[in-house]
Amino acid sequence: MTKRKVKLKIKKKNFIIFLVIIFLLVFSLIKATNLVVNALKTPKKKKNNIETKEKKKKEEPVTDLDKVKKQIDYFNNDYLERYQKYKDNNPDMDIIQIIKNVNMQLDNPHYDYKIPAKNKNTNKILVNKYYYLDEDYIPENLEKISTTYALSDMRMVKEAKEAFEEMAKAAKKEKLSIIAMSTYRSYEYQVDLYNRYKKQDGEEKADTYSGRPGHSEHQTGLAVDVYNGQTNYTSFEKTKEFTWMSNHAHEYGFILRFPKDKEKETGYEYESWHYRYVGKEIATYIKENNISFEEYYATIIKDW
Ligand code: DAL
Ligand code: ZN
Repeated sequence: MTKRKVKLKIKKKNFIIFLVIIFLLVFSLIKATNLVVNALKTPKKKKNNIETKEKKKKEEPVTDLDKVKKQIDYFNNDYLERYQKYKDNNPDMDIIQIIKNVNMQLDNPHYDYKIPAKNKNTNKILVNKYYYLDEDYIPENLEKISTTYALSDMRMVKEAKEAFEEMAKAAKKEKLSIIAMSTYRSYEYQVDLYNRYKKQDGEEKADTYSGRPGHSEHQTGLAVDVYNGQTNYTSFEKTKEFTWMSNHAHEYGFILRFPKDKEKETGYEYESWHYRYVGKEIATYIKENNISFEEYYATIIKDW
């Protein structure tokens, strides 16, 4: 082999090595670039995933609760979990009824979930098996009802007392006798009364017709039990006076507080003799819409 030929062979060999090195370098460079690009891409991909999930979530059909939330103005955001729980426990119940019932606190057992009564010394006060008055609560402006329309020492809040006298006077003009036989009752009075009923009938039965101390509307000075001076008050429903009151009580601001078909809402058995002063406007609304005061409070007053 000539010297020239050897040199050429060496050059060729070097060139091949050079090519291999270049190839390896380019290959490594591509690989490295890919790694970097992928590393940069991954979080973006993840973000996209989250975005897609969120989009999916938004696009999912809205639940009934979501739908009514925008439609009704008595939806209470603070009660969201309670609405959901009540809905789960009552899957066949209409969603509006679910909202109303929870607003009326009906998802809790009576006397278990206690709320201090709001709107004290106003016609909007609600006292029932959830909302209570302290033992020292005595309404302002208690006045005695004229004995022409009441047994002795029957006191009500001034505005209610005047409305009651006006109503009884209008009934009297039609030869009807509406007489107040139990009005404002103090906390202590209710303690004695309730204990007597409890002893007589047992707690479960007593709770169907008597408020526990602090939970009787009579402590507000806005409630009145009536009779016609002859028939026992428990039969007031059978009297002409009851028919007259059914048609006219709202004109004087009174409502039948424990109607026949509202026991679940009021927590009490039907009482044809127990009326509550709420003022003409509220009384008329309640009568025209055939709702309980509890429902009115839960959907219109909304002072939870
Ligand atoms: N009788 C009614 C419910 C009361 O005791 O307040
Ligand atoms: Zn009563």
